[in-house]
Amino acid sequence: MITIKSEREIELMRASGAIVAAVLDMIGDEIREGVTTLRLDRMAETCIRDHGAVPSFLNYRPKGEPDVEPYPATLCVSINEEVVHGVPSDRRVIRDGDIVSVDCGAYKGGYHGDSARTYVIGDVAPEVGKLVEVTRECLDRGIAQAVAGNRLHDISAAVEEHARSNGFSVIENMVGHGIGSELHEDPPVPNYGRAKTGIKLRKGMALAIEPMIAMGRSRNAVARNGEWVAVTEDGKPSAHFEHTIVIREGGAEIMTCSG
Ligand code: MF3
Ligand code: CO
Repeated sequence: MITIKSEREIELMRASGAIVAAVLDMIGDEIREGVTTLRLDRMAETCIRDHGAVPSFLNYRPKGEPDVEPYPATLCVSINEEVVHGVPSDRRVIRDGDIVSVDCGAYKGGYHGDSARTYVIGDVAPEVGKLVEVTRECLDRGIAQAVAGNRLHDISAAVEEHARSNGFSVIENMVGHGIGSELHEDPPVPNYGRAKTGIKLRKGMALAIEPMIAMGRSRNAVARNGEWVAVTEDGKPSAHFEHTIVIREGGAEIMTCSG
């Protein structure tokens, strides 16, 4: 079921989104060679709790899957070939030349915000830098299609077209999602698809749009021996950006933007 958010709910989502943006700004200041991913996680959790919010991902369990162990951290920190859901660890040290996706969710006042950015650490190969830039642009192009009256897959098609025309591949088995009082609501938001298809977008719909784009030819992100983390099939790097947006009169409003 797709929920339509009221003005009051949108205000609450803006507050949660601003907390997530503040965390990702702070991570941007702190992330560097030599820092462990667990240290970033600790800083993020402190920041979220200082804002009177709760980490959305900590203890998260997919609905209807009681056998899955709950997610053990505040952030997902996914490095290079790791696409998403990298679990922070005190043994994982960030290195020069890494690209690092940091995904964060915060829950406050009954609503979630969810956003991710990929940070470039020191000197990366030009093609890797381009992957990060193009993925960021894919998010912008997707958001530009999140307009009342458009169809859901107008977002998907815009993301896919920009990724493929730059020679990159789209991860198909991980998708964006509706968001609100639940972290994952309907509809799923794929990063590929045909324009002018899918449900009609309406004012008050809230979506987490999150392109996951890879070098090479991977179509799926696959679990690495029973861990949470999902990696590209061919071991090539992938990048990930995400914003929580709400469809408003005249276009999308980003809930998770800084400042
Ligand atoms: N942003 C991701 C998502 O929307 C992270 C949540 S995964 C979790 O699916 F399991 F760690 F919570
Ligand atoms: Co998400």
